[in-house]
Amino acid sequence: MTNVDLAGVYDARAAIPFDGSTNRGEIEATLALVRALAPSLDTTILDVGCGAGWFLSALAGEGYRRISGIDISAKNLHLAERHCGDTVTNLILGDIATSTIGDFELVTALNACLGCFGPPDDQRFLKGIQGVLKPGGRLLLTYVGPDAARRRAGEYRVRYSAGSPVEVCSQVHIQSGWLIICQTIDGRPVPEERIRIIEAPILKRMLSRAGLEFDAAAVMTEIATALPFVSLALATRPTLSRLAGGLAV
Ligand SMILES: C[S@@+](CC[C@H](N)C(=O)[O-])C[C@H]1O[C@@H](n2cnc3c(N)ncnc32)[C@H](O)[C@@H]1O
Repeated sequence: MTNVDLAGVYDARAAIPFDGSTNRGEIEATLALVRALAPSLDTTILDVGCGAGWFLSALAGEGYRRISGIDISAKNLHLAERHCGDTVTNLILGDIATSTIGDFELVTALNACLGCFGPPDDQRFLKGIQGVLKPGGRLLLTYVGPDAARRRAGEYRVRYSAGSPVEVCSQVHIQSGWLIICQTIDGRPVPEERIRIIEAPILKRMLSRAGLEFDAAAVMTEIATALPFVSLALATRPTLSRLAGGLAV
């Protein structure tokens, strides 16, 4: 799939008037993790695949003042501009895999940006994140593991009522290692979304190949329980001294 096709899938979903209220509990749980990882409100944070900017606006609401977002979908980025105004430092239209920005202390990548349409071992997304992190910087990633995929499978009908009401019908199924999400928005079908289901050992290998260390000690069970529809991973870009120490062993 080309970047233009990928952007088209998410541009179509920008028509859903999501206002952050349907998943407030998940946003709160993720904010709790960010507070633990980034106690200083001056931490430089990049939200990768920021979508319509709801997590960025939640970060701004917490008082974080050096926050940026990147997304490949122009329509979503436009919504993020509207929602966040001047509370964000920078909103970038583009693919994280080829991004030239850098030096963030924390990167968040939430809700299935990893694995969107990628081949099983696609490293580009994580390598792109490694490139924008400072040495010692942290990654908070949610992805779709097998348990989260099973919990998501099924049929749903959700009515969003920010502005004029819109009904979204979703049929979610698992097929050959993919989570396949077919949706209609007010009866109109949008291009199907396919997210690779990634098992934890494979994710660890992918992180390591991308130059990131999986942080097993930091996985907080009670927060993971509050996020039933995604799997949670924390990783660190090692500092140069840590890399050198590792090489000396
Ligand atoms: C399922 S949405 C999640 C949006 C938001 N993070 C949230 O939690 O509501 C995935 C988002 O990732 C973006 N995305 C996917 N691949 C990307 C890439 N390689 N670079 C930047 N954005 C990407 C999509 O355009 C889409 O807005």
